[in-house]
This record gives sequence, C-alpha cells and structure tokens, in this order.
Amino acid sequence: MRVARKTKKTSGSSSSRRSTGRSNRRTTSRSRGRTSSRSASSRRASSRSPSRTGTTRSTSKGASNGAASGGGISAISLLEQQHRMVDKLFERIKAERAKRDQIFDEICTALVIHADIEEKIFYPSVKARRTEETLYEAVEEHLSVKRVLADLVDMEPSNPKYMAKVEVLKELVKHHVREEENTLFPEVRKMFDAGELVDLGRRMMQMEQQLRQGGESELVRDLVEHTDQSAPI
Ligand SMILES: [Fe+2]
Repeated sequence: MRVARKTKKTSGSSSSRRSTGRSNRRTTSRSRGRTSSRSASSRRASSRSPSRTGTTRSTSKGASNGAASGGGISAISLLEQQHRMVDKLFERIKAERAKRDQIFDEICTALVIHADIEEKIFYPSVKARRTEETLYEAVEEHLSVKRVLADLVDMEPSNPKYMAKVEVLKELVKHHVREEENTLFPEVRKMFDAGELVDLGRRMMQMEQQLRQGGESELVRDLVEHTDQSAPI
C-alpha cells in the first residue's frame, strides 16, 4: 500500500519523491555503524502489535495522570518528557553549530518516534467526541512536521536555508506541543484514571523500544513514506 503510494508520487512533483532519493544517501551515511536485522515491514508489524483495546475508556473524572501507579509512567508524562527533550534539542541545534548534523539526527529520531507512538497508540486510544477535532488537527500538524523533516534529512547544515527550515520546524513543533498540553491532555485526564494512563504509557514505551531497535535508517524510511497524507486515527 505504501509502495503504491510512493510509486504514484514518483510521477508527480513532491517532497516525498525528492526525499526518497535523498533519504537513501542520508540513510546510508546516517546508518553507518548501525545494524538492524529486522525489515521495515517486520518492525512496523511489531510496532502495531500493542492492542488498541488494551486500555479501557473510563468516564471517571478527577483522575490524576501521575507519573506512577504501581510503577510505570503515565502516557501524558511520557509525552511531556518527549516534548521537553525536543525543546532542548532545538536550543542545542542553534547554539552548537559544529554539531548540527548530529543534533538534527536526534531531533528527527525523537519526532518520528513521538509521531508514531501518538498516531498508532495514543491518539486512537483517546479518540472520543470531545477530543476528535483536536486529534484531527494534531495529525495534520504531524504531517507538516514530517514534510519539513524530510526536507532537512537531505540538507547539509552548511546550506544557507538549513537553519531557516529548522526554525520553521521548531515553530510547528512548538504550536503542536502547546495544543497537546493545553487542550488535548486536560481532556484525556478527564477520560482516564491514573492506572489506565500508566497502562497506556507502558504500551507506548514498548513501542518506542521497538522503534529504536529498528534503527535510524528504518525511522528515516518510515518518515519519508509518510509525507503524502496525514495518518489515519
Ligand atoms: Fe504530537
């Protein structure tokens, strides 16, 4: 399905088409020294394995999304941690000119994993009438983020437009984070109790581990193949 979409894109003008070629070069250089015996399809299959039905919706109100309940981290705390980590990386990429390429790799990895986890576990689990509009906006924002990331994947930091694109990416992420933390998360806190959020967080952490095991080259491929349209939720 993804291959077909990619083929279709190849006949037109798109960032995806450009990125596919670029990503091969970038992926090769970025993946040097890293090995993965798992195919993209097997990683994707396993990354989808956590069942969406594993977390039961709750109507209990006033529940805390505290970091731990018998061990583990709540889904919201996990996502907030990821947000803060990316904030710091954006500060570093501006300040540490000589390390921009390496820091961008970290930003790219963090954002692709963050988007995957949200699109495949968090958003479907918290989708309800009260959150649906915010979630549809969120996946469109993810799409914009992925497209700028895909552009940057094949740009060198010495390119005069490099930091301009990084700034655009930063602003997109900043807006997205604000929406999640100020609008989505408060609604989710009303829908789930602490135990349910920890259960959700556990599944999200498992998926993060699987994605990291897949390696950076697969993450970049995953990114490039998902710049056509927003993720279904
Ligand atoms: Fe997000």
